Amino acid sequence: MSSRILVFASGSGSNFQALADAGVPVAALFASAPHIGAVAKAESRGIPVVIAPTDPAGLESRIAQAQPDWILLAGWLRLIPANVVARWAGRILNIHPSLLPRHGGPGLYGRRVHEAVLAAGDTESGCTVHRVTEAYDEGPILAQARVPVLPGDTPESLAARVLAAEHRLYPETVFRTCLAPPTSPR
Ligand code: GRF
Repeated sequence: MSSRILVFASGSGSNFQALADAGVPVAALFASAPHIGAVAKAESRGIPVVIAPTDPAGLESRIAQAQPDWILLAGWLRLIPANVVARWAGRILNIHPSLLPRHGGPGLYGRRVHEAVLAAGDTESGCTVHRVTEAYDEGPILAQARVPVLPGDTPESLAARVLAAEHRLYPETVFRTCLAPPTSPR
């Protein structure tokens, strides 16, 4: 199976790092800005960096130049435009730090997700890898990992526990979904 993989990141890039360090062959990092943590992590691993155009047509043509089979969103905060979702339909994955469909959608990212989990009194949280559609956090779910919410948890302590689970779940799901060898006919 051909598997040219792009990772998109807007932040510290710890999920990008987990993917690269697990052996996911990342052809390039698409970054939202030049000074984010993910860029330094890519440069230190010799992975090419592209600063993603903000306009939908420019983004589509820059992605097309890179000829990806898969696009992995790893802390990407902008909505992926409809033209890009349509062209790589089913081949864009995202990781979200809650057990979707709980605590997803517009405005629910980063610390706010964990605040919402604590405010709801949930006894467990976790993370979800799903295919990307035009609506935030709504595409078909591929995998989830659960973690407990513990007495005295703060958004930060819960976020750290969920992030550790993300770093295991995302590479494992990518290997299974994007890199599995074709099954040979018997
Ligand atoms: C993660 O919690 C991920 O689930 C969410 O954004 C965060 C990115 O963190 N989509 P990092 O940049 O990978 O450290």
